[in-house]
Amino acid sequence: MTNQLIIFDTTLRDGEQSPGASLSVSEKIEIAKQLEKLNVNVIEAGFPVSSPEQFEAVERISKEVGVTVAALARAKEIDIKAAYNAIKDGEKKRIHTFSSTSDYHILGKFGDDRYGKTLADKRETILKMSYDMVQYAKTFVEDVEFSAEDAGRTDLNYLVEVVEAAIDAGATTINIPDTTGYTMPKEFGEKIAYLMEKVKNINKAIISVHCHNDLGLAVANSIAGIENGARQIECTINGIGERAGNASLEEIVMALKVRKDIFEIESKIETKEIINTSKLVSGYTGIIIQPNKAIVGENAFAHESGIHQDGMLKNRETYEIMTPETVGVQKTKIVLGRHSGRHGLKARLDELGYIIEADELQKIYDAFTKLADKKKEVYDDDLRILMGDSKNKNNAIFDLEYMHVFGGSSTIPTATVRIKTDEKMLEDSSTGDGPVDALYNAIDRALNKKPTVESYRVRSVTSGREALGEVTVRIRKNDRSYTGVGVSTDIIEASAKAYITAINKKERYERNNNKNKTENSKSEI
Ligand code: KIV
Ligand code: ZN
Repeated sequence: MTNQLIIFDTTLRDGEQSPGASLSVSEKIEIAKQLEKLNVNVIEAGFPVSSPEQFEAVERISKEVGVTVAALARAKEIDIKAAYNAIKDGEKKRIHTFSSTSDYHILGKFGDDRYGKTLADKRETILKMSYDMVQYAKTFVEDVEFSAEDAGRTDLNYLVEVVEAAIDAGATTINIPDTTGYTMPKEFGEKIAYLMEKVKNINKAIISVHCHNDLGLAVANSIAGIENGARQIECTINGIGERAGNASLEEIVMALKVRKDIFEIESKIETKEIINTSKLVSGYTGIIIQPNKAIVGENAFAHESGIHQDGMLKNRETYEIMTPETVGVQKTKIVLGRHSGRHGLKARLDELGYIIEADELQKIYDAFTKLADKKKEVYDDDLRILMGDSKNKNNAIFDLEYMHVFGGSSTIPTATVRIKTDEKMLEDSSTGDGPVDALYNAIDRALNKKPTVESYRVRSVTSGREALGEVTVRIRKNDRSYTGVGVSTDIIEASAKAYITAINKKERYERNNNKNKTENSKSEI
């Protein structure tokens, strides 16, 4: 058995399924290029059949990166065709198809009698469907992955049958997801060992694991999978994903690296790119990294108590099992200021993983000099924020032109806003309980929309009185939420930017979805 671990990154597919984390196509391309620098083996770029925007993202990523790009598809011809069409011009392509195998899923999703009257009949239908659809995917590409959804709660002997059938049909990777994050590490490891022993043709495929974090065990379960024969791990940057998220790439990779004394298996990940990748993903998704998050949290390498600091000064290894530099945390931070030129700015942004087109540089440089005038020293985190801000502006359907907020302890807070759209300028005013409430009411009136604000958070990006304030807002409309991040040295302005960014994401999603519906209804006619 090989001692190389395949890192299958699903940040752009399962990760994007995190509540509020919708990414634009250009943000996805940038993240994909950074994942390539990180040296992942496979990028799962999306679920092409689900929307035209997903299709476009997968298609463009597969043309622009050299690593294998996987496209997700249910075990249905229409999904598999869409997946293939999205990746067909790519250099290395994989179709990832899946069927539900647990009784919970079978009875819940395949309850209709056309799938069989009894549970045994339905299981038979799914087994055949899995076999047929892997064979169908094989007519398009050599590299086919099959996942048994909710394998963690699937009857083991039935799982053996399904896996054997998928390999017979030509699957080259078999993925065993703990979809609901239900299993315990020992139990999950034993499931993998059982499959390794009982599936007759197991040596014809790579076994993969895909663990969710509902009980905080996704990384532990993935490692138990590796210990029992899995050679592909499906994971995401910062552990983002459905509900409590997926196994975190950086935690698995660093666990194997730090404890290479016990694992005779390694990944090819360029660990020095971990921090840049983590911050890029956090910035574009708006999902803040908890300070105590392993490897990439702000406190991951901070030593607060006197005893610890003293120990560290004498010998780093007293309290440090890996150096911050290994994951790309720089001790001496490079600081830019108002005298830095375009060239210096571009070089630093390149290092941080951003892709700057020639025609974008001047705009970014103008924003940078404005910021450098307000803040004498511009840190990497300020630059990351600046880049997020300029992306938001480029993708804007609604753009904040002007705002004026009036408040104080003995007046009614009042706000006026002017918002630019493609067709016209919208302007309105409103009062509110506080300045942010007045501002949001004014925006709602101008746009004639009223999404529910699910959460609102402010934090300072760097330290000092002139630090940038970052506001993260999550809004909800129908059954979806959207996150917007806004930054300014003025937190009221940052609040407006965050809210409008979230509304832009909602608008973009709804417009795409409506377009999709219209196209589908046209093709049905
Ligand atoms: O969690 C899951 O089961 C999945 C599959 C589609 C692989 O994401
Ligand atoms: Zn998943």
